[in-house]
Amino acid sequence: MGASPELLLLTFIFIATATATFGFAGTSNKLHTEEVRALKQIGRQLGKRDWNFEEDPCSGKGNWIVKEAIKGHESNLTCHCSSSSCHVVSIQLKAQNLTGIIPPDFSKLRYLKLLDLSRNCLTGSIPPQWAAMKLEEL
Ligand SMILES: *[C@@H]1O[C@H](CO)[C@@H](O)[C@H](O)[C@H]1NC(C)=O
Ligand SMILES: *[C@@H]1O[C@H](CO)[C@@H](O)[C@H](O)[C@H]1NC(C)=O
Repeated sequence: MGASPELLLLTFIFIATATATFGFAGTSNKLHTEEVRALKQIGRQLGKRDWNFEEDPCSGKGNWIVKEAIKGHESNLTCHCSSSSCHVVSIQLKAQNLTGIIPPDFSKLRYLKLLDLSRNCLTGSIPPQWAAMKLEEL
């Protein structure tokens, strides 16, 4: 006869636990794919070229959070993560030399609560799509 049933059961439990733990840890920090797509759109529209999509936007790496080098300049994106995925909750792009129209695609970030685009050269009015947003601070 082969391995005892107890040993097999223990091995199974160990593998199941490890998969759950590491599988969970591996995906817990990722931004929801629809929001990544929206950020790419927004980056293009604003001319925000230093956002690095090789890194997950919620990781804080790759220029997603830049400490202000010059006073009043800020580029900071923060997320809220649950066990299954992350959502963008705050974007601050102050004095980032951004140009163009105010991107309607911000409305696709449905968990966004704080948006600060002060001291850039954006034109146009607030996009009608923004009516659906749940912003608490602008
Ligand atoms: C980025 O923004 C968050 C949310 O507003 C804030 O708590 C955090 O201190 C900011 N980080 C930096 C480096 O400015
Ligand atoms: C904005 O443009 C000025 C002048 O071209 C430059 O010195 C500055 O570094 C730029 N700021 C950012 C955040 O790119």
